[in-house]
Amino acid sequence: MKSIRHLLNPLDLSVEEIDTLLDLASDIEHNLPKYAHVCDGKKLATCFYEPSTRTRLSFESAMLNLGGSVLGFSSADSSSAAKGESVADTIRVISCYADICAMRHPKEGAPRVAAEFSSIPVINAGDGGHQHPTQTLTDLLTIRSLKGRLDNLTIGFCGDLKFGRTVHSLIHAMVRYPNVRFVLISPPELRIPEYLRDDVLLANHIEFKEVGNLDEALPELDILYMTRVQRERFFNEEDYIRLKDCYILDRKKMKMAKPDMFILHPLPRVNEISVEVDNDPRAAYFKQAQYGVYVRMALIMTLLEVEKPC
Ligand code: NCD
Repeated sequence: MKSIRHLLNPLDLSVEEIDTLLDLASDIEHNLPKYAHVCDGKKLATCFYEPSTRTRLSFESAMLNLGGSVLGFSSADSSSAAKGESVADTIRVISCYADICAMRHPKEGAPRVAAEFSSIPVINAGDGGHQHPTQTLTDLLTIRSLKGRLDNLTIGFCGDLKFGRTVHSLIHAMVRYPNVRFVLISPPELRIPEYLRDDVLLANHIEFKEVGNLDEALPELDILYMTRVQRERFFNEEDYIRLKDCYILDRKKMKMAKPDMFILHPLPRVNEISVEVDNDPRAAYFKQAQYGVYVRMALIMTLLEVEKPC
């Protein structure tokens, strides 16, 4: 039996496969009409057990752009999870209704369980505080398009590095490119998880530092990846309130950044980037959201093994 390809972790794709996928996404960006029918008759199921705006709608937009159709649910309450159905049972059923499934779940590892029971490709659209591989593909496409490369970069991650799954996934993906350094900017309570520091950064001899001060870090960065403090993953509200506004990027701070340093943010933004920064040509976060559609189109085509049109 032919094996089914899933995307659960950014490392499920090799560097070469990511390159090919980003090339396809760039071609889609510049030749959108060419792809309008490549998924005619195919269906994407979006199974979202956690809130989402960009990820779910960009998946849907991606499939519609390819000529396919979409079905799904946008909260656990509106699915049979509310009646106690397991992810394993749900995906068995969804496999009869759709050709590919994007799943977001508050429990880490839930999409992996789904993949075990699925007869269609499963895409992890975010599992708890763990991973978010399609945001990573979006981030890689954004960085490559803006900077022209994925190597030789100093990348600053700022904010909630403990619970931010987009941070975890992007670090995993970026350590595979030569001469990438990280500046990890967070309060002590929100530092990256130990496993990421020990098993990924230290184990691969990656240059990084953990700092508390954004102003001091700014001048050396090629990319600043801002994140919101992940309220829903905190154990108590007091800690959230104490930490939520620990970094606010504003116009004054941007004067310290390189003229070609781009700001990325997976969105949603809360207060961590002042709206006055939105008009700065270095603010790339809305463009990044747009890239998310192209990269998900490329991913759907890749997992469904749809031929690139000539
Ligand atoms: C992120 C997520 O869901 O992890 N959002 C997104 O998918 N673009 C980031 C966040 O929620 O802060």
